[in-house]
Amino acid sequence: MQLGEYKNYIAGVFTAGEATETFDVLNPATEEVLATVSNATPGDVVRAVTAATDSQPAFADLPAHERAAFLRDAASRMREESEHLARIMTLEEGKPLAEARGEVLYAASFLDWFAEEGKRVYGDLIPSNSTDKRILVLKRPVGVTAAITPWNFPAAMITRKLAPALAVGCAMIIKPSELTPLSALEIARIFDEVGLPKGVLSVLASSDPVPIVKPLMDDPRVRKISFTGSTEVGKILMRQAADTVKRLSLELGGHAPLIVFEDADLETAVAQTLACKMRGMGETCVSANRIYVHRSIYDAFAERFTSLMQTMKTGDGLEPGVSVGPLVESAALEKVERHVQDALDKGAQLLLGGTRVGARGHFYSPTVLKGVDHSMLITKEETFGPVAAILPFDTEDEVLKAANDSPFGLASYLFTRDIGRIFRMAERLEYGIIGINDGVPSTAQAPFGGVKASGLGREGSKYGIEEYLDIKYVSLGGMNA
Ligand code: SIN
Repeated sequence: MQLGEYKNYIAGVFTAGEATETFDVLNPATEEVLATVSNATPGDVVRAVTAATDSQPAFADLPAHERAAFLRDAASRMREESEHLARIMTLEEGKPLAEARGEVLYAASFLDWFAEEGKRVYGDLIPSNSTDKRILVLKRPVGVTAAITPWNFPAAMITRKLAPALAVGCAMIIKPSELTPLSALEIARIFDEVGLPKGVLSVLASSDPVPIVKPLMDDPRVRKISFTGSTEVGKILMRQAADTVKRLSLELGGHAPLIVFEDADLETAVAQTLACKMRGMGETCVSANRIYVHRSIYDAFAERFTSLMQTMKTGDGLEPGVSVGPLVESAALEKVERHVQDALDKGAQLLLGGTRVGARGHFYSPTVLKGVDHSMLITKEETFGPVAAILPFDTEDEVLKAANDSPFGLASYLFTRDIGRIFRMAERLEYGIIGINDGVPSTAQAPFGGVKASGLGREGSKYGIEEYLDIKYVSLGGMNA
């Protein structure tokens, strides 16, 4: 399957821009070239930022409901084209088609949510200490923004950033992952077709992020950066943002603990743990990395979980019935192998899987490890693969301490029916997201984001829109004159 040549979207035009080269996008299921894409240059960045700077003020002046119409139209178009978009996503990223369809709808849901939320950007009138003064608070778009987006959700992580930006009147330049630029360019096409004013959106794909990201970071006209990716890169961006004092939203790495207490409903806990662990083949920042199960139900949980994992079919995501696609690239596969080998070397038991699948493509079998302990790499680094690591625990205090013993603080999960425990744990777990009897809490109307090394800011929800707004204080004197 060849999808031909894609061009970048710069200042409202699909063009090779200054690019004299293209780069290949590979299908992780076949390792064949799927498409070629123009390799954007630093000069293209300048052009995109200039167009964004020129078009943003007029866009910000539009009434919110007019900006909302672009978002709503784009969301409808995404739903109408969901089959086409999902196929492209599966081909470039690997996730099974059913999941890709789900992601297209998830991506559209951010456009719908922020189309409405943009109409509710309220200011304030604050009581003053003086009869002669009034204190007003206005909220204004931050201006030109840039998004650096990951490969694991090639559409939804774009719309989660783009939708609030457009809803409040910001312009945005998107640098998608070099592994999955096609979904990003398809989203640009949709916004172009619904008539988004030219210059407000640019999408610049490049085989090497640095020549695109560096000029974005250095340009004082870019007022905000939103990044989803590794903590390592997030720290570099924080340092680079300092020179022009840019605002930052950072959705960084995670290492999610998932805790199953002895009073949990076992069927729910097993099914939700599977959903959490295997969403996107385990290649999500909120995937359960450490599955702590109370010792009294440890064997029963492991057995039931393994028998469900066994039913998952691995293969090309376009094939019917497949629920585990290929990992995105060979480096991902090698990391998973390293984590599993390290756990086995240190005494873990392999209940299922533990092998590559097939001679081509980056397939790894659904894997379950029991008897995992904290000396193993898998309990420290994100595995980003279909490997479930199960650890026993005895007491609430012990498991809370173990769960919080991580530099990361993105998502955590808890299975119990004890309301006191639910509140104690929710208050004490040092994580931005806590799923209780819920393995997949992500949704457009809830605030997504982490604490500690998992990042800054929130996406989605009424909180997500604030990331694209500056507060202005207006002091109005002479009121007694
Ligand atoms: C991720 O960032 O990997 C997860 C995104 C989501 O659940 O929305």
